[in-house]
Amino acid sequence: MTSTLDPATPLGPDLTRRGLDLALAGTTDMAPTTLRVPLSYYADDKLTDIEQSTILRRTPLAVLASAQIPAADDYVVREVIGDSLLITRDRDGTAHVFLNYCRHRGAMPACGAGNARRFTCPYHAWVYDNRGRLKGVPGRAGFDDVDLDSYGLVELPSEERHGWVWAILTAGMEMDLDAHLGSLGPELDHFDFGAFQYHDERFLSSNVNWKGALEAFAEGYHFPFVHGNSVIGQNTIANTHVYDRFGKHHRIGFPFNWITALQDAEPDEQQWDPTSQMGLIYWVYPNLILATSPVGVEVIDILPDGAAGKCTIRHSWMAKYPATTDEQRELYDGIFAQVHAAIRDEDFAMLPQCSQGAQRGQHDHMLLGRNEIGVQNMVRVFAEALGISLA
Ligand code: FES
Ligand SMILES: [Fe+2]
Repeated sequence: MTSTLDPATPLGPDLTRRGLDLALAGTTDMAPTTLRVPLSYYADDKLTDIEQSTILRRTPLAVLASAQIPAADDYVVREVIGDSLLITRDRDGTAHVFLNYCRHRGAMPACGAGNARRFTCPYHAWVYDNRGRLKGVPGRAGFDDVDLDSYGLVELPSEERHGWVWAILTAGMEMDLDAHLGSLGPELDHFDFGAFQYHDERFLSSNVNWKGALEAFAEGYHFPFVHGNSVIGQNTIANTHVYDRFGKHHRIGFPFNWITALQDAEPDEQQWDPTSQMGLIYWVYPNLILATSPVGVEVIDILPDGAAGKCTIRHSWMAKYPATTDEQRELYDGIFAQVHAAIRDEDFAMLPQCSQGAQRGQHDHMLLGRNEIGVQNMVRVFAEALGISLA
């Protein structure tokens, strides 16, 4: 079966039907042709610089799950391609994204995460509130010729929608989130991620190109070989993708083994819920993977780390049903430990080999199969954004 690259189909029973049909036929949605990708796409440091300046610093990024700052005055500091960001929720509930650099001499007023209305810079104790305003300067007389109202933290363009705080890393840029997300916005709303419970996160760095790392979450061709001994390989049907584009973004349904039981057990197709029959994995262009499951979502944020062959990975997990007991929290700890181990010990044990292949190989190109339709889409979308022509 060949998927057209048409706009996405809704998240409904039809999606389950497509997954069931592919599973029963032992096939997958496919791209029209194979695709050749020059090794430099993964190996060129200059290209990584261009990706940062033309894509990652100019595109809305989902920098934080709303669920990570659920209450007024919550805040989180995180680094995104070398920028320290202070993300706050003020007492009126509005989220803000600031560059976490003091306007005096540049130290970082905030660190970690927590609940606070004010942040005191560790160097000379300038104080900022969680709306970014400068509220206190020791030795004020030393600055008596300066209007301190114009020395607040630099705020980045941001918007909180669909369960995420989105920001553009360039101050002063206009953000058109609807244009960026298109039909993906309403699709994300279906999950109600803002009501999830942020459970835990871990960080990795790896010697692999960031775009190559993202590709590991865009095909199930590798599942039996890399994940054969873990839950991903055991629960899903290998090399079977129900594929839909949402503009630049995409969704892949990876049918669970039990989907085939639907052919006998459930006559009313209108009751078929795709989220219980498939792992639905989204690529939110440019750098975010959302891997949903019936009980939660893995949030996998992958960014370049200063060179073509290096990336950082922020892997977190949010629960669909907030834990209210220690027992439930332990259960979620176990789930997160398991899915994190699969990424750390399986995908990211494999991926640096591909990076070395791209850097040291003396062949000409990587070859993406028709079955690797999601990977092909990623490459085509990035290539278009970067002005790279593919054969
Ligand atoms: S650098 Fe922040 S108070 Fe001096
Ligand atoms: Fe994988």
